[in-house]
This record gives sequence, structure tokens and C-alpha cells, in this order.
Amino acid sequence: MCGIIGFVGKKSASPILLEGLRRLEYRGYDSAGVALLHEGSLLVRKKKGKINDGLARLLKSEPVKGSLGIGHTRWATHGAPSDKNSHPHLDQSGKISVVHNGVIENYDSIKQKLLNNGHVFKSDTDTEILAHLIGEYYEKRRTKNGWGEHPREPKASDGSGLSGASPHQTNGNGENPLTLAVCDALREVIGTYGLAVICAEQPNTIVTARRGSPLIIGIGNGENFIASDANAIVAHTKKVVYLNDYDVATITPERFDVLNLGTDTANVQISKLEFDAEDAQRGKHAHFMLKEIYEQPQTIANAVRGRLDFEGATARFGGLNMSIAELRGIERIVIAASGTSWHAALVGEYLIEELAQIPVEVEFAHEFCYRHAPLERDTVLLVLSQSGETADTLAALREAKRRGHRTLAIVNVVGSTIARESDGGIYMHAGPEVAVASTKAFTCTLLCTALLALNLGRVRDLSAADGKRLIAALGRIPDQIRQVLAERERIRQVAVKYMQRSSAFFIGRTHAYPVALEGAQKLKEISYRHAEAYQTSELKHGPLALISPDVPTVAIVPNDELLDRNIGALHEIAARSGPLYVVTHPGVQVPDGAAAVIVVPKNEPELDPILLTIPLQLLAYHASVALGHDVDKPRNLAKSVTVE
Ligand code: AGP
Ligand code: GLU
Repeated sequence: MCGIIGFVGKKSASPILLEGLRRLEYRGYDSAGVALLHEGSLLVRKKKGKINDGLARLLKSEPVKGSLGIGHTRWATHGAPSDKNSHPHLDQSGKISVVHNGVIENYDSIKQKLLNNGHVFKSDTDTEILAHLIGEYYEKRRTKNGWGEHPREPKASDGSGLSGASPHQTNGNGENPLTLAVCDALREVIGTYGLAVICAEQPNTIVTARRGSPLIIGIGNGENFIASDANAIVAHTKKVVYLNDYDVATITPERFDVLNLGTDTANVQISKLEFDAEDAQRGKHAHFMLKEIYEQPQTIANAVRGRLDFEGATARFGGLNMSIAELRGIERIVIAASGTSWHAALVGEYLIEELAQIPVEVEFAHEFCYRHAPLERDTVLLVLSQSGETADTLAALREAKRRGHRTLAIVNVVGSTIARESDGGIYMHAGPEVAVASTKAFTCTLLCTALLALNLGRVRDLSAADGKRLIAALGRIPDQIRQVLAERERIRQVAVKYMQRSSAFFIGRTHAYPVALEGAQKLKEISYRHAEAYQTSELKHGPLALISPDVPTVAIVPNDELLDRNIGALHEIAARSGPLYVVTHPGVQVPDGAAAVIVVPKNEPELDPILLTIPLQLLAYHASVALGHDVDKPRNLAKSVTVE
């Protein structure tokens, strides 16, 4: 879940690595470090804490030189966040340096073997074991008796024609000993990795590999980059290669070679990044989260653009890769997702069932893999993921594919693993989402799910009139979001006054229940206040016991067929002196004495959840700011959860 960056070229690597790490810090941030190669020696600097307080200061007082280097921001899995556990790690000889994202599951048995061989370890991490293992193999590979002792060497897919230039340093048989050592080590490893390795004896080479954790190569002119996330390198190049699982790449300033440990040849394709470095900058906003909340009128418009078929009163997509007959043939949809995307899945369930009359089941992605639930033959698995890299969600996708089901995905990050491995899908077009707490990606997921439901509905029994009703409603949303954003100051006052309580309830029904779940999650994530979401009607079955003047309730009360019942529940809360914050539609009469009423514009019921969510995003944001927390980088969390 960490970030990885690497540079090889002629420029000074240190500022490139540091800037790249800053752009990656949102992915994981308990420590950071770099290793550079200068005049035959590895120079390592690493420090616990956020980059500005830790590594950046260290690099000021102890600068490093060199035009080859790797860097890392860590999200600890093995060993506490500390200087010694920070990456990069060195092998026994001190010649090889490794940064790693993921988990080496069999690190204990490898460690025992290495201990028996006299290795001494300096950290508590699984990564250091891997560094030592690569080091052992490197020693074998560089001594002549060790060459080529493996029965089958994978064939490299040569990227040289793409970036031009001369061959990289080899051991004489077309392979670099560092690459071979990495391959040897990875054949022994069980687990997940995004990996970058440099060696004091290989002055122009980075070896990188992936399994279950994203890695891309950025192709420059006389220089090349590697990164776990395009954000880190988009300022330098837009030409990238997304590595696949089991790819091992050897990168020099002039070329890159990719081989695959599982197949004979690697599948190398050059893609173009579709965003600019500025898109991932905070701009005038105090935090990324606020910027992303404010981008929603635009992101929603982007997600709709080009996808409406006015004549057919439907939505159309370029990437579903399914014929109309196949779309009609879907018997059932299982939606698998995690966290906020799982909340979006619950809204998706309502939408697809209502508009397309296809039975839908929502699963936590991690449960889907282990429940072994029966799936009918014509079940499609739909996964939702902002990052397109969430390990749990990716595992669900792979499990469904393994069982022969068609898979679709709604994903934000273009070229991400889920986007590449699913049979078809829809991009959100929300642009880079940097704040750990997802906002614009959530509303774009709702939007894309609504478009999909419309499309599925229209190849079935949804009337053209209903299709047109939704299309007209989609056009109104951006302006309606702007109207909600204009309420920000009032929402801030509510947040400051009441959200500092230690606990809060969020309640809603049908479409509004997932909105309540999302509101509670946002508050928890960034304000560290306990918040719980309930179906409004469930309150009286237990949680009502907790209602008191100290426990505020945020009630999501759309003006829909359940309005009277919802208002009844609000009276039950008010009668027990529970402070009430009501997010509702114009004209709704809430009980007297409600602490605050936030009115959002009414749209069609299918699209109301998008608008009802926005005040809750602002509520959580301002609560976090009022409490003095780091809004964009909440403790213990990472943006992209690439470990299961
Ligand atoms: C959102 O605020 C959270 N940070 C988290 O729940 C997130 O939605 C979850 O980890 C899934 O991520 P994904 O959408 O990238 O798959
Ligand atoms: N497992 C490694 C560690 O704990 C890597 C963690 C990460 O992905 O940042 O150091």
C-alpha cells in the first residue's frame, strides 16, 4: 500500500525521488526513504514519519548524490513504523537495496534458511528478508559457476525499439545478474510485491517486479522511471507501461526489458496518461479532500459526457464489451466492492433492481472469495473500485473469472489492474483522487452505476419515458451539486458545534441507507469520532437505547414514499432529546427543535443519493478540520489497499 518511485538517467535523482514520494504519500505514510547509487556506493536515507517532517529534513542535513535511485513511502505490515523498518532495505553484503510494497507470506521460513547461512537482520520487516534473499542469489549469479543454473529462463520482451538505444549491461548471455537474482528470489517467494531493486555493481540499472501490487514504467528521453502510481511521474512523462503480475523489468536510461515469470513472453504495451500533473495538485484549496468535494459538478458532468443516447433514451458505453443479446441474457448480478465502494454497490443494487429488474446481490469483496456461494450460470460479477488496485476487490474479480463468470468493473484509475483484468467496464473519469477519504469517486461510482442500470433497463422493460426522465435528471445534477456546495458555511457551523461529540448516528432507508453508511464512514475515517449507520426502521430494534442529548443523529430524509415513516422515527428521537441533523428535500416538515436542517435540491429518486451525500462529505471534512486532524492522510489508513 506504499508508494514506490525509481529514476535512472543523467539528472540528479534525489529531487525527483523526493517530489515523487510527496505525490505518493497519500498511499501510505508512516515512513519514507531513498537509496541512491553514487560512485559505486549505495547511499540510503530513511526516516519515520511524514515526508516533510522526516525524510525531507534528513535529506537537507545529509544530502545524497547520484542519478540512479529508488524511493518508498511505507504503510507498515511487518514491524512497527520506525527508522529501522523504513525502506529501502539492504542485503547482507550492503550492495543491494530494495523497496517493496506488499507482504511476503513465507518470510519466516526464508528467514530461517538465511539465518542458518549466517545472515544478520536489522529490521523486523518481511522486505529485508527478500533483500537478503536477492543478495544470496546475486552472489551465485555473478560468480561464473552460478550462471544459468535454472532449467528455464524466461524470455524477455524487448522494449528497446520503443525507447531506442543501446543494450543494457548484461552478464554476457543476454541477462543481467541482478535481474536473474530477482527472478530466482521471486520463484521462492509466496505473497505480493511491487518491488524495485538496485545494486552497487549495476550503476545504470533498476530491476522492478510486480505481483498483486501495481507498478508502471515511465518512458523518458534518455531517462526512465518506475512508480507504483502514475501521479508520481506524470510531471516527467506521459508514456507508460503497466506491468502485469509476474513481470520482471530491467530498466536503464535508454531501454527497458520485460520478462514474465509465468509465461514465455511478457505483454508490453505503451499507454498514454490522460491527466496532467496539475490535476493531482491541491491548487487553492486547503486540502485535497475539499478540492475533490468541489470538483464534483465537473466530475459528474465528465462521467456523463458522451454516454447519453437521447434518441434511444438510454446510456451507451464504449467498453462493456457485451452485445445487446448478452446484456439481455444477464440473469443476476453480484456486485463486489470494499469500503466506500461497497456503499456505492448498495445504491447500485437498488438502481439495477428498480430500473432493470435484474436481481442483484452485494458482497464485501473479501467475503465473496471465501463464501463459495452458489452462482447461477448467467451471473455477472460487477466490481466497483476507485483505485482499481484494491487487493480484496481484485481477488473477487479473479475468483469470479476462475469460475467462468463474466466480469465488469466501474473503475476510476485508467490502466489499473482491475481495469485491465475485467472483461469490460466503465471508467469514472473523476480524475486523480488523492485524499484518502473518497468523495468524488463515490459520487461518480453512483453516477456510473445509474448509467449502467439505465442501459440494462432499456434493453429490458424500462419505458422510453423513464429513460428520458433519467436523462433529463442527469443534466440537472452538476448545478444542483453547486447549490449544495453553497451551503458549506452552514454545514461547517453544524460540524464545529456538534460533530465534536464522541459518537453519532447516521440513519436512512432504501437509497438513503447507503448514504447514511457513507456519511458515518467519512466521519469515522477523518475525525476519528465513532459513528454508526442504521436503517432508520432498525433504530427502535436496539440502538434507540443510546439516544440521549449527547448522541447526535444525522438523518437522511428524502422526500419519497417513506417520508411519513421517516418523520415518525425523527419524532421518536426528538422525544428522547436526541439532537437531530436532518438532510432533506425542500418542503419537508421536520420535528420542531431539530438542531439543524440542511436542504438539498430534489432530483429523481435514482439520483438523489448523489446530492444527499455531499453535505455529509462537508460535515466530515469540517469536523476533521475543527478537530485539527490531518484531513487528507488519516491515521492508519492508506489510499490504495493492496494487501488482502
Ligand atoms: C474511502 O473513503 C476509503 N478510503 C476506503 O473505504 C475505500 O473506498 C476502499 O478501500 C476501497 O477502495 P477502492 O474504491 O479503491 O477499491
Ligand atoms: N511488508 C512491508 C513492510 O511492512 C511493506 C509494506 C508496504 O507495502 O508499505 O515493511
